[in-house]
Amino acid sequence: MRRIVVVGTQWGDEGKGKITDYLAQRADVVVRYQGGNNAGHTVVINNQKYSLHLLPSGILNPNIINVMANGMVIDPKAFCQELSKIKTPFKLFVSNRAHIVLPYHPKLDLAYELSKGDAKIGTTHKGIGPAYTDKVARIGLRVGTFVNENRFYHHLKELVERKNYELSLYKQPLLDFESIFAEYREYAKVMEPFVCDTSILLNELIEQDKKILFEGAQGVLLCLDHGTYPYVTSSSPTAASVPLNTGIAPWLVEGAIGVTKAYTTRVGSGPMPSEIEGELAHYIRETGREYGTTTGRPRRIGWLDTVILRHTKCVSGLSYLAVTLLDVLTGIDELKIVTSYNLDGQEIDYLPSDIEDYERVMPNYMVLPGWKTDISQVKSYDELPKEAKNYLDVISNLVGVKIGMFSVGPDRNQTIMIEPFF
Ligand code: GDP
Ligand code: IMO
Ligand code: MG
Repeated sequence: MRRIVVVGTQWGDEGKGKITDYLAQRADVVVRYQGGNNAGHTVVINNQKYSLHLLPSGILNPNIINVMANGMVIDPKAFCQELSKIKTPFKLFVSNRAHIVLPYHPKLDLAYELSKGDAKIGTTHKGIGPAYTDKVARIGLRVGTFVNENRFYHHLKELVERKNYELSLYKQPLLDFESIFAEYREYAKVMEPFVCDTSILLNELIEQDKKILFEGAQGVLLCLDHGTYPYVTSSSPTAASVPLNTGIAPWLVEGAIGVTKAYTTRVGSGPMPSEIEGELAHYIRETGREYGTTTGRPRRIGWLDTVILRHTKCVSGLSYLAVTLLDVLTGIDELKIVTSYNLDGQEIDYLPSDIEDYERVMPNYMVLPGWKTDISQVKSYDELPKEAKNYLDVISNLVGVKIGMFSVGPDRNQTIMIEPFF
């Protein structure tokens, strides 16, 4: 396959950054197609850790063309800050049709959350929901307009007036147009040289038969349409989202690699049937360093859930799985895997669409033996202890998708490719 999507199969933070960076060594192009700086993608190269939020995870490979496509929402301040941290040469293009996150978006994000009380989503407060809301309401500001100073001035003036009215309804401090304009025109100057029509660019690169990775943010369970609504983000991380959000034909996407954590984590609110608490959850959280890359929040921990993975396979399509953080399970005597749910006395193998039903499902588990030996240095599937091999085989069988690769530590070189799919 020459054009594949890196999809998070759970609730985000599966290790998409790491897998994208690894596969980028064999690619020509890496494209981020949705989300904004709500994402936090970690790449570790020779013990040096990079946290990427907006920039594609190919940015640390000097030969790769990186694209921020039209489906993204871009906070210019965060963009400039992140760019300034990249000290190696890079190639980057930003879509003129992507949307801009402006200072009123995070403020409204917070105001909506506060107004919801206990029903809050637990967003990242980065303004992602309000920025996509404006896109759909057709009052968003796009990158192409943002980098045209004259047009930006006039649009921003009108928008700040409109949004100050909304902020006043939530009793929030109002924003000053002049100071935002003065600050953001400088960010626009930094962004301008990277801006182009990335749909035209991508179609040209496909014409040249370049190898392309489409890097999803979040995970399918956070998809606006197919996730655990309303506890979701405001875009779609599925493979189906790629054509629309990059401006290429659907049939040019050749496959998807589903990045799957060897257990489950979630940040923010909403149901998580296999959630565990207490000592074991604490052990996994500390061993896997399960704290949000973007917000620092401790991640909720649960057993691997294959109902979720079959759902992801169904709504997104998965050619192979990339199982990450397998090393974190070393030393646990018994490992559980969710095989189905019970709802009102009935065994089910799907995600109920209504969140109140999903909150009531009870998971059914199978129990597998764990392994004790350190696996962080293994270089092949064959070197794994038999219990770890069995764990991977069971996942593959239950989901009906081959394991294409797995990973046993955060570093780029702790990644093992089993199938030569890219
Ligand atoms: P993403 O949002 O999907 O890119 O994932 P994050 O970067 O938010 O979270 C994944 C975390 O797990 C990061 O801290 C990674 O460095 C780390 N990680 C990735 N793969 C492995 C692995 O195989 N083993 C261990 N121990 N850590 C890993
Ligand atoms: P990566 O790309 C994990 C979660 C938030 C919240 C919900 C909505 O690193 O996997 P939002 O700010 O998007 O409106 O928040 O989605 N969320 C993520 N959780 N990883 C992410 O990204 C996430 N991006 C958003 O915690 O529950
Ligand atoms: Mg993350």
